[in-house]
Amino acid sequence: MKVLIFPQPEAAVRRTADLLMDQVRRAPRSVLGLATGGTMEPVYAEILARRDRPSFAGVQSFNLDEYVGLAPEHPQSYHRYMAQHLFDGLDMPATQAHLPRGDAPLAHLEASEYDARIRAAGRIDLQLLGLGANGHIGFNEPGSSLGSRTRVKTLTRKTLEDNARFFGPDEEVPRYAITMGIETIMEARQIVLLALGPGKAAAVRGMIEGAVSTYCPASILQFHKNATIVIDEAAAADLTLRDYFEEVHPGGAEVLV
Ligand code: GLP
Repeated sequence: MKVLIFPQPEAAVRRTADLLMDQVRRAPRSVLGLATGGTMEPVYAEILARRDRPSFAGVQSFNLDEYVGLAPEHPQSYHRYMAQHLFDGLDMPATQAHLPRGDAPLAHLEASEYDARIRAAGRIDLQLLGLGANGHIGFNEPGSSLGSRTRVKTLTRKTLEDNARFFGPDEEVPRYAITMGIETIMEARQIVLLALGPGKAAAVRGMIEGAVSTYCPASILQFHKNATIVIDEAAAADLTLRDYFEEVHPGGAEVLV
């Protein structure tokens, strides 16, 4: 794992946006895995604000997850989120942006078909990930099989509470989601995970320094050959090896030896 600790969250966001854009510059027909959540909003804003942004016309994208029961037009659906925060500002044709359909009549079937669509596209070149405060990636909650494929997951109380802020006071957060599985995520050639703020410090520690276990699904990234963890100082606060990571990558820089 490459652990980049940035003094300021803004710099961590810029680095994440740069890693994504570098991938597209290197390979204009890249297959990207995209994520939602509050952490990704400034990343997508940064990409849209950049004048040196490469063309996304040849890119295909697959999002990690979607709430079961929400149609693409639903204001809190991840379809809407992606349109609002990224896709509407890009030159990527809509047909090349894929998300699972939350309103599919048979969610289980939609999940397995989505997994097949990812496989048919070839491997994901770069998978962007956020981190749940409970260590989830996508919606792979604690207890998720480390060998799981895209499927329907029941969300934990913690995740329902964490995500309630995106919904109105009278709205209920859906209890189920379709999410890429952990094995599906691990097949990506490169993984970039961004986690910011003190609320993520415990999960960051579990992911980087804890035992690999279903209890902290993100800990599986310890097995990935090309995973970059981008964090700010607040999210790095609980790391035992923090000094070492900061020595190897001062200020989050990637120093070539
Ligand atoms: C959500 C998403 C994840 C996201 C995580 C963190 O529930 N399914 O993909 O990474 O939780 O969200 P946030 O960035 O809002 O803290």
